[in-house]
Amino acid sequence: MDKKESAIIVRGVKRHYKVGTELVKALRGVDVRIPRGEFLFIVGPSGSGKSTLMHIIGALDTPTQGTVSLDDQPLSEMDDWQLSMIRRNRVGFIFQTFNLIPSLNCIENVMLPLITEKQIKDEELEARAINLLNLVGLGHRLYHTPMELSGGERQRVAIARALINNPDIVLADEPTGNLDSTTGDEIFRLMRRINKEKGTTFVIVTHDVEYIQPGDTVYHIKDGIITETYTQKGENNMRGKKHASEVNL
Ligand SMILES: Nc1ncnc2c1ncn2[C@@H]1O[C@H](COP(=O)(O)OP(=O)(O)OP(=O)(O)O)[C@@H](O)[C@H]1O
Ligand SMILES: [Mg+2]
Repeated sequence: MDKKESAIIVRGVKRHYKVGTELVKALRGVDVRIPRGEFLFIVGPSGSGKSTLMHIIGALDTPTQGTVSLDDQPLSEMDDWQLSMIRRNRVGFIFQTFNLIPSLNCIENVMLPLITEKQIKDEELEARAINLLNLVGLGHRLYHTPMELSGGERQRVAIARALINNPDIVLADEPTGNLDSTTGDEIFRLMRRINKEKGTTFVIVTHDVEYIQPGDTVYHIKDGIITETYTQKGENNMRGKKHASEVNL
């Protein structure tokens, strides 16, 4: 399949919630096209529908109206088992609050999404987890629990966990929201490196537009509607331009 061919197409997606007698229109007709290998941003104010859209793209939630297709297959035509296979085999999630299990060490946290997968031997899964922890620069922290890590290190464990199933697409909802700017830069460099080296598609929700680089696709969302779409042009405007060469590893 051509690298630029659309992996995910969101068409006319609406998501309404009933709260008492009120109808909350979180998404009011959203179209998004996510080609393979893209580094794509969704930006917009609080309450604009970003997380709702991410959940729908990742098959964690279903639209009230409209369709989401993965490689031309509408998610709406899949049964629960097929959807769980998509979530388990094709998508990785990164959250603002890391969502690591406090009692498990780094290796165990990274193994977790596939721990019930009988086709993969425990030793193989553990080796895969260690490889990924090395990839994210945590080879020296394998047996630490989340409490024994810094914020940036925790998010790097979460990134390794998101990659354990070798997903086509990683959905990151404010991955640097709880990190200082230096650590945030580090997490973005890591995500860009994975995007380049593995070809993994990244869809990232952020409030911080300084992380957007030339060539990135940007969707602006406001009040449940996409208001603007463009490919970032020109000079990179990331904080600490001295890191630009590293960014483009
Ligand atoms: N389960 C729900 N029930 C009712 N309303 C909801 C529910 N989830 C979200 N909403 C509403 O839908 C709108 C969009 O929420 P969403 O979480 O997608 O926003 P967001 O853009 O991710 O915001 P933030 O930047 O604060 O995370 C908000 O007005 C929110 O209050
Ligand atoms: Mg949100």
